Amino acid sequence: MRIAISTGGGDAPGLNAVIRAVVLSALQRGWEVLGIQRGFGGLLGDAQVVPVTRETVRGITHLGGTILGTTNRGNPFAWPVTRPDGVVEEVDRSDEVLDGFRQLTLDAMIVVGGDGTLQIGKRLGEKGLPLVGVPKTIDNDVRGTVITFGFDTAVNTATDAIDKLHSTAESHQRVFVVEVMGRHAGWIALNSGLAGTADVILLPEIPFDIERVCDKIRQREADGRRFSIVVAAEGATPVGGELVFQQGTAPGRVARLGGIGERVADQIEARTGKETRSVVLGHLQRGGSPTTFDRLLALRFGAAAVRAVEAGQFGQMVALDPPHIVTVPLEEALHGHSGVPLDHDSIQTARDLGISLGD
Ligand code: F6P
Repeated sequence: MRIAISTGGGDAPGLNAVIRAVVLSALQRGWEVLGIQRGFGGLLGDAQVVPVTRETVRGITHLGGTILGTTNRGNPFAWPVTRPDGVVEEVDRSDEVLDGFRQLTLDAMIVVGGDGTLQIGKRLGEKGLPLVGVPKTIDNDVRGTVITFGFDTAVNTATDAIDKLHSTAESHQRVFVVEVMGRHAGWIALNSGLAGTADVILLPEIPFDIERVCDKIRQREADGRRFSIVVAAEGATPVGGELVFQQGTAPGRVARLGGIGERVADQIEARTGKETRSVVLGHLQRGGSPTTFDRLLALRFGAAAVRAVEAGQFGQMVALDPPHIVTVPLEEALHGHSGVPLDHDSIQTARDLGISLGD
């Protein structure tokens, strides 16, 4: 057997652990492994295809990032091509991916990615590419698995930041708004806000009323708690309001979520008179060494993906269904929104603890 592995989409702590587990499990079976660099780019001449050996994956379990590189601008079905007149067009290069796969005489491919990359994988599978998916993302927004690797590390990073902001907020009697990642899912905000003892948590799943947020801060002030911590998911919106995107003017720049924290901070200061600062944690949440939980999940996912290839379970994704690692059809995993369900006990826990969700 000759298999390939690629990592696509935004990086997440644990990618290298998956790569190591895939490579060692494959070599154990006498298989050969090629690494497709930068998502599918290596099959499209945009990056390289390299042999991945025992030597390559030595000592990488604890390292953040991905030794194969990645991109979240590498959809072969909508590949950006700049025409001679400077206009950027999207071209379908998916047939070239299949050609590249056949030319390398590969038997199967393991694709590690979030919903975007897995969606591409599903479509390539429908075109005949024998593929197994491994779900990754710090956002935890892939259905079909209880959790994705990378999420636990991101939550730890955010919790640590909230912990650190407490002392300065209290010393200066300020309000801090901490903006965390997560796209349209509030998992990072909810978990880090709960664990870090935030006073207000704003989730994309629950549109907020800024007056309710300010009420909570005023109530704390009246109780002699002269500082507050607000955790805002980057995808949070006010009732009837819209998502906030980062400003940027570079040509071809893709709209990126960001800025809700600063906006909320301005409004809190204007309405309560409390000095309010905002902090955007940004890509710090994607970096660093994976937690033990993420390492184990990633290693289990990687080994399970090789077993799935061995069993011919193509068009499937490995997933955590505690206590087991299972496989689920990519079709199922990519269906519908995977944010925090409104009846999730963590939402109720936050309310029971007196944390405002801004509603
Ligand atoms: O999906 C992971 C993620 O980090 C999101 O939380 C965030 O919105 C996005 O990627 C940022 O993407 P980029 O790396 O392109 O800025």
